[in-house]
Amino acid sequence: MMTQSLLPAVLSALLWAHGSHADGASEFVGRGQIQVLNNTDVATASIADRIGCMNARGEFVLDDCAVFTRLDASPNTLSTSAGNCTFQNPNMPLNTDSIYGQDSHSWFCGEGKWTQYDEYYYTIEGFLRPFVCNGNINCNYDIKAIVPTEGDALPAWQYYWGSQQMDIEAGHWRVLWLWVPVDKE
Ligand SMILES: *[C@@H]1O[C@H](CO)[C@@H](O)[C@H](O)[C@H]1NC(C)=O
Ligand SMILES: *[C@@H]1O[C@H](CO)[C@@H](O)[C@H](O)[C@H]1NC(C)=O
Repeated sequence: MMTQSLLPAVLSALLWAHGSHADGASEFVGRGQIQVLNNTDVATASIADRIGCMNARGEFVLDDCAVFTRLDASPNTLSTSAGNCTFQNPNMPLNTDSIYGQDSHSWFCGEGKWTQYDEYYYTIEGFLRPFVCNGNINCNYDIKAIVPTEGDALPAWQYYWGSQQMDIEAGHWRVLWLWVPVDKE
């Protein structure tokens, strides 16, 4: 389940040691905003590719960007003022357009104990910038092909692909999440 372009990153992940290198990975600590970039090339993607950000409820919005806190110890969860963030809340919309992601729910931050399995968020050493990954090297996210306007709050899903759908499904964009620290200790 890995794309060609992610293979070097996978190797880097095996060598990853928290905080031991001064690259993008070391910035994925403490508090930050999650900016949504319409670029999946980890070598070039930057804030210049920004099309929106994630709000306190874990939705894709234009500029109501929440401050997220990453738990630096295991299980390395993300949370906002609303609560913990998860892809496991069954009340969130399914990604019905995706062949492999049709059973997956959009991201959610809020109250409730939804997690059936550990959901940790990390980045990968070797990435120039701290792109947010989860699960088994999922560093890409799936959104509808829409730039939110003021007041829109849109779903964001994990990106799934496979032999019958080798890239993002029609009508959606594959994006990166960039962690932008808001303060440093
Ligand atoms: C987002 O990326 C897709 C795929 O490269 C492109 O077709 C689309 O025009 C981009 N949209 C914006 C708003 O940049
Ligand atoms: C949020 O996640 C942390 C870490 O797993 C946990 O200690 C805390 O109880 C969770 N909070 C809620 C409201 O579930």
